[in-house]
Amino acid sequence: APRTPRQQAPDAAVGGPVPIVRPRRLRTTGAMRSLVREHTLRPADLVLPMFVREGITEDQPISSMPGVLQHTEDSLVRAATEATERGVGGLMLFGVPKYKDAVGSGATDPDGVLNRALARLSRELGDATVIMADLCLDEFTDHGHCGVLDAEGRVDNDATLGRYREMALAQAEAGAHLLGPSGMMDGQIAAIREALDAAGHLDVGLYAYTAKYASAFFGPFRDAVGSSLSGDRRTYQQDPANGREALRELELDVAEGADLVMVKPGLPYLDVLAEVAAASPVPVGAYQVSGEYAMVEAAAANGWIDRDKVILESLLAFRRAGATTVLTYWASEVAGWYRDGLPAHLREFL
Ligand code: PBG
Repeated sequence: APRTPRQQAPDAAVGGPVPIVRPRRLRTTGAMRSLVREHTLRPADLVLPMFVREGITEDQPISSMPGVLQHTEDSLVRAATEATERGVGGLMLFGVPKYKDAVGSGATDPDGVLNRALARLSRELGDATVIMADLCLDEFTDHGHCGVLDAEGRVDNDATLGRYREMALAQAEAGAHLLGPSGMMDGQIAAIREALDAAGHLDVGLYAYTAKYASAFFGPFRDAVGSSLSGDRRTYQQDPANGREALRELELDVAEGADLVMVKPGLPYLDVLAEVAAASPVPVGAYQVSGEYAMVEAAAANGWIDRDKVILESLLAFRRAGATTVLTYWASEVAGWYRDGLPAHLREFL
């Protein structure tokens, strides 16, 4: 193979002192860069969030998330099987019910869209991948909040815990390996852990949404789950101005029995991710959320960025900041790139 021409000895005519320490030496060739690369991506690092919708006969596009679908149960199984064959680390399921009510009844109904889909995936895929379920009421409530409301219309923390316990049992019975409590209620991990253990679901784990911010980056997700929220989530999700409370939430979730913890959104919160990763005794994940996905796809559709490179660079950034797993809507596609051997323009990411 041809060798890259070496730099010439400094030309005395240029004059002046020349650097003795040259960091560029380690960047001279692809092989050299590969030798000193600190972080890499594997398909197993990636978790694919998926949406399954009740009452449709064909999968539906989501306008603000081009390339992401609301699945029928059958198309969900096909896409989940494909992602599993490509080696993704896991699947995170969200349900889009046909009917919503004040307490989110569909979330705890064994015949509800999410629980049915979990049971189906569990039958079809078994332990070939890790099947995860979003454990939250917002997809199932008509008011769009993550919990039930009190007489004044506020989210009632402790009444919501009761609903989460029931939801956890339904998801565990349907065969989920990991439950992802994402509602940011105080005490949710302890409540759910206790309910699971009392029912004998000792091996069902909790992937806690530990540091979850009241973020506008979740915007397109509302389209994905057909949710129209009145008001906002600032009384339970974290203030984007704060870093410290992420560490407090981490301490609580770990003490309450979280098996993995997550920071969400992703890129705008890499500082939080790095701090949580440095302090956490359990594996840490990051969620590259719907708005992050939409921004990259929109810029790429306009020809303003190199889509594939931006995707891999962003995923690598999560790994560098300390994430063991990354939830991303590109998980299956990216896993496919790695399985097929990365195309030439992406070799730097091997
Ligand atoms: C709550 C939940 C949300 C997301 C994941 N779980 C929405 C929210 O809290 O407002 C957002 C994911 C995304 O934006 O991609 N069920």
